[in-house]
Amino acid sequence: MRAPAPPLEIVILAAGQGRRMASALPKVLHTLAGRPLLAHVLDTASALAPRAIHVVYGHGGERVREAFAHARVNWVLQAEQRGTGDAVRCALAGLADDSVALVLLGDVPLISKDTLETLRARAVAGPALLTFEAHRENQYGRIVRDAQGRVVRIVEWRDADLAQRALREVNSGVLAAPVACLREWIPRLSSANAQGELYLTDVIALAVADGLPVATASPARSSEVEGVNSRADLAALERAFQEQQAAALMASGAQLMDPRRFDVRGTLITGRDVWIDVNCLFEGRVEIADDVRIGAHCIIRDSRIARGARIEPHTLIDGAEVGPGCVVGPFARLRPGAVLDDHARVGNFVEVKGARIGAGTKINHLSYIGDATIGQGVNIGAGVITCNYDGARKHRTTIGDHAFIGSDSQLVAPVEIGAGATIGAGSTITKDAPAGELTLSRAAQKTVSGWQRPSKPARADKE
Ligand code: UD1
Ligand code: CA
Repeated sequence: MRAPAPPLEIVILAAGQGRRMASALPKVLHTLAGRPLLAHVLDTASALAPRAIHVVYGHGGERVREAFAHARVNWVLQAEQRGTGDAVRCALAGLADDSVALVLLGDVPLISKDTLETLRARAVAGPALLTFEAHRENQYGRIVRDAQGRVVRIVEWRDADLAQRALREVNSGVLAAPVACLREWIPRLSSANAQGELYLTDVIALAVADGLPVATASPARSSEVEGVNSRADLAALERAFQEQQAAALMASGAQLMDPRRFDVRGTLITGRDVWIDVNCLFEGRVEIADDVRIGAHCIIRDSRIARGARIEPHTLIDGAEVGPGCVVGPFARLRPGAVLDDHARVGNFVEVKGARIGAGTKINHLSYIGDATIGQGVNIGAGVITCNYDGARKHRTTIGDHAFIGSDSQLVAPVEIGAGATIGAGSTITKDAPAGELTLSRAAQKTVSGWQRPSKPARADKE
């Protein structure tokens, strides 16, 4: 029988300044797909179910701690950034001797759980390094191997000679090692190098000197090990991540008109035969059922869209529920609490907030519907407004089934329009309107006979 795997503890290095971001914000708080870099790393770390997660923080550290106040992590202050070896030294006091330590970097956000599991499984007798083949010029540390292909040491780019710089296999910065070993090696690190720092990477040569094997693993995708050092890096990684998400959605049956013009900042769940045009943005948690079509330039956040609904271009949907077969937009705005029952229609320049819109009801043009309950089969004319706010409090408007609200009417809440009622166009309704009757409030139309429109005096120079 195999011995059980030793417990895992994760150390995330996040004390660096990130000077090349040219930002007041600590680097790990910059966002990828709408979430801080560190949040991505913490998610992956938690997915490995470690005994503990230790985050080494330094520069701007209080802001990092505040941003993650609810995370179950052990915060370790590295007051002065004296290198990655020093950062691990700071955390080491809080780690147990029987654990394997997995060192992650706070600015390498897309590392995957599978890759880390492989790496961890290889760090039993000695350290295991996550390395990869670099395809373009870069300044990563170089992996030096002997004639038998065994790892001998890591040379940092700034300390490397020309032959070493030409090596293609490089260090991702992620490694796993038994804690007991790190406790031996870390105090022996020296800062006699080009950067005058304690390099964590130097533990590899120490392991080799102790006669321990050094294992390696490589990531499934290159984006997993790409770090964020500049804003250009961040933008490139954002695109790589978005294209990965797009590919996964297409594999599950969604059609994206252009996976390069598509962004999800959160969780998007799509059914089959969902069709999404260019430049749509999804935030928070969005669920889209089968056969939904979404036009270009829509922004949808924390909402659910039921089967067969059609969202026309330039529509904003936030905190809403769209029923089956509804048509929304173009240029519509659904705000939190908007609930559309099946086959409702919300057209251009219509804003709906905190309102239930019954089945088959139409609000086609230029309306504000706030804090309302509207029945089925209602027709809301162009320009109708629910006046829900009296300057101090909000009030509700209730409209019964099959009512017809004439164009450009104002419904001053609290007010109730009965089922089948008709409101004459241009009315200001301040009292309840009875079911089945015509109610209107406008001055009677009159004709002033003989009235003359003023005319301009004739100009002498003309004619
Ligand atoms: C490091 C590796 C290099 C590897 C590269 C991959 C070392 C010596 N070198 O180099 O081999 O190819 O990562 O990206 O480890 N940090 C601290 N405290 C410190 C210094 C750094 O917490 O005192 C953190 C940083 O916030 C960052 C990470 O450690 O998240 C890496 O530090 P960085 O200075 O970027 O290391 P590199 O020079 O890129
Ligand atoms: Ca780096």
